[in-house]
Amino acid sequence: MKRRWMVAVFWLSLLTSLALWLSALLRLNVSSALQQANAQLSEETIKCIQCHQAKGVARVALRDWSQSRHAQVGVGCEECHIPVAKASGITVKLKTACENSSVRRRVSALNCAECHQLQFRQFTEGKHALAWVAMNAIPITSRLPKEIAERGCGGCHNIGRDEGKCDSCHTRHLFSAAEARRAEACQTCHMGFDHPQWEMFSTSKHGTIYLTQGSQWDWTRKLKQWFADMSAPRTPRAPTCAFCHMPDGDHAVKTAWGFLAVRLGEKDKEWERLRNIIFRALGVIDEKGNLTERFKVVAAGKVARLSIEEWQQERNKMIQRCATCHSQSFARETLEQADRIIKEADRLLAEAVQIVESLYRDGILPRPKDRPPVVDLLRFYEVENPIEQRLYIMFLSHRMRTFQGAFHMNPDYLHWYGWAEMRKDLAEIKAEARRLREERKRK
Ligand code: HEC
Ligand code: HEC
Ligand code: HEC
Ligand code: HEC
Ligand code: HEC
Ligand code: HEC
Ligand code: HEC
Ligand code: HEC
Repeated sequence: MKRRWMVAVFWLSLLTSLALWLSALLRLNVSSALQQANAQLSEETIKCIQCHQAKGVARVALRDWSQSRHAQVGVGCEECHIPVAKASGITVKLKTACENSSVRRRVSALNCAECHQLQFRQFTEGKHALAWVAMNAIPITSRLPKEIAERGCGGCHNIGRDEGKCDSCHTRHLFSAAEARRAEACQTCHMGFDHPQWEMFSTSKHGTIYLTQGSQWDWTRKLKQWFADMSAPRTPRAPTCAFCHMPDGDHAVKTAWGFLAVRLGEKDKEWERLRNIIFRALGVIDEKGNLTERFKVVAAGKVARLSIEEWQQERNKMIQRCATCHSQSFARETLEQADRIIKEADRLLAEAVQIVESLYRDGILPRPKDRPPVVDLLRFYEVENPIEQRLYIMFLSHRMRTFQGAFHMNPDYLHWYGWAEMRKDLAEIKAEARRLREERKRK
């Protein structure tokens, strides 16, 4: 008798675990999700899904969509893949495969805007919306092979292409807010050579806390709610990228200094002198100090801050963010110290620029074929001479790391990958200039 019971229990538990396994498997199956959502889905969407499923087209799209909030609330394929009237740049058109000539692969942010006005408007006011404009505004872009510009720059800058690419942070077709709240959502673009914010953040104290404890935080809660109650057990102890840069989910990202860390209207006279040397090398002012044509393009892309007031507004917002956790004065002092670090970095860069400028002035560097014989930092590595290659690295990698490291509480980037490398660049630029001058004398 006892034995029979044991056998029965054995089989029962085996069957339940099998059933659990099966249901887990089914959860990955689109049709079960489809059945759940079916009531709310449009005829059109059901057609898309049935045919795609039958033909095995883009299975990932179907699976991810079926697990999304959109599927739950009945937002179907055509809401995004049939562009709204005003959408521009929707070039990829599917001719016959989908039996609906208005279906497009590329999705315009204007489609999202039909239902998410607020996020769309904020995004449009922020710097991400200008990423495509800024990329095309600088002289290197037109000199690159088309594919390199399209994928090698555009792979990141497409976040601002046409009306914007909303799947940059909440990837398709899950479109999850929780995913975007995490710091990793920013890392594909904010990493590497000239903007290693991911590396700096993830190895800072803030990032260390995030990486060690973040898995216990409740990412489905909005950032605002998290911090409303600091005593809640699942409240994050440390900030993420979005926490500092998208306060309350504000999609209008913009910082006080920006990428180049330059601003007009400097009150500190010595800094203004250094900055003018850098402005000339960026090609935004001429020899006489007048604004150039390029200035207009750069201003349109909001690449530089045009007044101290504009700068101060963003700074105040950031101090408020820090003050969620720290004291205001601690935050202000930390950031002001980082401002002074920019000035020190500018001093080194300006000296290097002047050395290279003097080589052009004295006719020691050969006259370039297709441009005036002056330093042009926005050509990046599209320059002929090794000394200018070195200057470009000093400007775009090492100066960036110095101040970006300071703003992201990362001493190693600030110092060893930034400042120390700038000193080395300057020493080598000096040595190379000396060598070129001696070579000229011997000729
Ligand atoms: C909330 C908007 C949205 C919804 C709803 C949506 N998509 Fe998409 N889909 C996108 C975006 C954005 C892209 C990327 C487009 C681009 O490259 O610009 C995309 C790309 C695709 C692609 C091409 C990429 C690939 O992986 O092959 C397919 C196929 C696709 N979607 C199918 C579907 C199907 C089928 C549905 C309905 C089950 C659907 N989509 C629902 C936004 C959406
Ligand atoms: C009669 C079948 C059929 C229907 C209905 C259908 N599709 Fe397709 N769709 C296809 C096939 C087949 C492909 C694959 C084409 C390929 O691999 O190049 C495709 C590809 C796509 C792609 C990817 C195209 C690319 O170039 O990457 C998108 C996006 C898409 N369909 C969206 C939709 C949407 C949205 C609907 C509903 C409004 C829909 N489809 C309805 C058959 C269909
Ligand atoms: C037809 C209307 C509609 C369109 C078009 C639409 N959405 Fe949504 N979206 C919704 C609704 C409704 C929700 C659910 C809101 C809620 O949970 O209260 C939602 C939720 C979301 C969420 C939050 C999901 C979560 O994790 O809670 C994101 C992110 C999102 N949408 C992004 C997009 C993007 C990006 C596009 C364009 C590619 C888009 N949506 C297009 C209606 C739409
Ligand atoms: C698809 C690539 C991509 C992703 C993903 C991305 N960004 Fe960006 N981000 C850019 C580009 C490109 C720019 C420069 C745009 C410009 O200024 O023209 C930028 C600019 C910024 C700026 C403005 C800096 C300034 O000039 O003031 C901030 C802040 C920012 N991003 C934060 C974030 C955060 C936070 C995330 C993640 C939640 C994120 N980004 C995700 C590509 C991306
Ligand atoms: C730079 C990364 C990034 C980009 C690009 C982006 N989002 Fe978001 N999005 C986020 C983050 C982070 C959140 C979560 C914010 C929060 O809860 O504080 C979010 C949340 C959302 C939500 C949910 C809001 C809510 O209250 O639940 C919607 C809807 C949304 N985004 C729509 C869009 C649309 C539409 C676009 C394009 C115009 C877009 N997003 C582009 C990062 C991004
Ligand atoms: C503790 C808050 C905080 C966190 C977390 C944070 N940042 Fe920042 N970030 C700042 C501050 C402060 C600045 C400088 C603002 C200024 O110009 O005054 C800044 C500047 C930036 C800039 C402009 C250029 C620069 O680096 O100085 C970008 C882009 C940026 N952050 C992206 C990111 C990304 C991506 C992450 C996550 C990997 C991140 N930040 C994490 C506070 C933060
Ligand atoms: C890995 C992604 C990525 C690639 C590839 C990339 N960028 Fe960027 N770019 C960014 C990010 C992120 C920012 C903002 C960084 C910051 O503010 O610290 C940026 C900033 C810029 C800015 C300054 C925008 C502003 O308003 O401050 C310009 C100009 C620019 N990039 C041009 C280019 C060009 C040209 C190329 C190709 C030669 C390129 N980028 C390649 C991600 C990328
Ligand atoms: C969500 C809360 C939170 C926010 C917001 C926040 N921090 Fe922190 N910060 C912490 C925690 C926790 C630590 C680690 C404990 C400590 O040192 O106080 C820390 C550490 C620091 C440290 C010391 C780092 C070290 O290596 O010792 C500095 C400096 C700092 N934060 C500056 C800032 C600045 C500036 C801002 C705003 C741009 C900011 N924090 C925003 C929570 C936060």
